[in-house]
Amino acid sequence: MRLKICIIGASGFYGKPIYNELCKRNDVVGTSHAGFPGKGFGKLDITDRAEVESFFRAHKPDIAINLAAITDVDLCERERELCLAVNSTGARNVALACGLVGAKLCHFSTDFVFDGAKGDYSESDAANPINNYGKAKLEAEKAVQGQSGSAIIRTSTPYGGIAGAKKFVNQAIGRLSAGLEVFAFSDFTRSPTLVEEVAENFPIILKKDFSGIINLAGSSQLSMYDAALEIASVFGFDDSMVRGSTGAQAGFCARRPPNTGLDVSLARGMGIRMSTFTKGLERLRSQGLHRVRG
Ligand SMILES: NC(=O)c1ccc[n+]([C@@H]2O[C@H](COP(=O)([O-])OP(=O)(O)OC[C@H]3O[C@@H](n4cnc5c(N)ncnc54)[C@H](OP(=O)(O)O)[C@@H]3O)[C@@H](O)[C@H]2O)c1
Repeated sequence: MRLKICIIGASGFYGKPIYNELCKRNDVVGTSHAGFPGKGFGKLDITDRAEVESFFRAHKPDIAINLAAITDVDLCERERELCLAVNSTGARNVALACGLVGAKLCHFSTDFVFDGAKGDYSESDAANPINNYGKAKLEAEKAVQGQSGSAIIRTSTPYGGIAGAKKFVNQAIGRLSAGLEVFAFSDFTRSPTLVEEVAENFPIILKKDFSGIINLAGSSQLSMYDAALEIASVFGFDDSMVRGSTGAQAGFCARRPPNTGLDVSLARGMGIRMSTFTKGLERLRSQGLHRVRG
């Protein structure tokens, strides 16, 4: 059955592949903050409740996927009001509008709702964010949970998409391929996630009408230093250009949770297959991503 789906934040790093995937079998309307007429994305500001309501009343989707967010963690730390307006209040506006028109909401969240002390987080582990971004995203989750039947998809450290994107893995591939050094944190453990695989698996979430919280991330949990070494190994780059560093040395404005690895057993049990980091890199290598400099 073709569904009417609205993707809010369709121009983003996750949004583009999810939009392209879901367009194959559904009637999809995409939005972005700035508007993206070339791609057919309308302009929607989720901080404006009236605008969001009127958008949902006009389109009456079966399903809304909310990917809109401010994802720059340091910007969120510097500009708390902006962060709350988009990542928390904006998400609540979308959730309320879904309630108005009876749309099922699939809302994207983050591994940064955790403090990173434990790692290998399952969906039932207690959240305890340590920066403005994580706090606002957790507030958003609470608002989304107020709409029965909603799904919250927690993901982590995206890579893939377009070559040269400002994501750690993409940038590391670009730099190592150019013979440049890469500084990689040994004290940050993550679950790097190939965005194309999130898109390809998304129809399973929709088909099963999943509700609740689900981790949708790559199946490897590793430090960013080990990730950089793995990139060098898979692509055949010089691994002496990978330099170990620590988040503490970097002097970020926002604190980062050390270990936010995500346990993906629930997704696996639903038939969702997310690759190991090595397999994800092999896929990118076969697609020639490394030939475009990051
Ligand atoms: N990136 C990560 O590292 C990461 C990790 C874990 C989870 N996530 C979560 O995954 C989701 C998608 O992230 P992403 O990486 O795809 O983000 P992204 O590439 O930064 O894209 C953000 C999207 O939100 C839109 N947007 C920004 N402000 C808006 C506003 N006021 N009203 C409406 N739309 C607005 C942007 O539109 P414009 O293009 O017009 O600006 C863009 O489409 C988010 O919920 C994020 O929290 C991301």
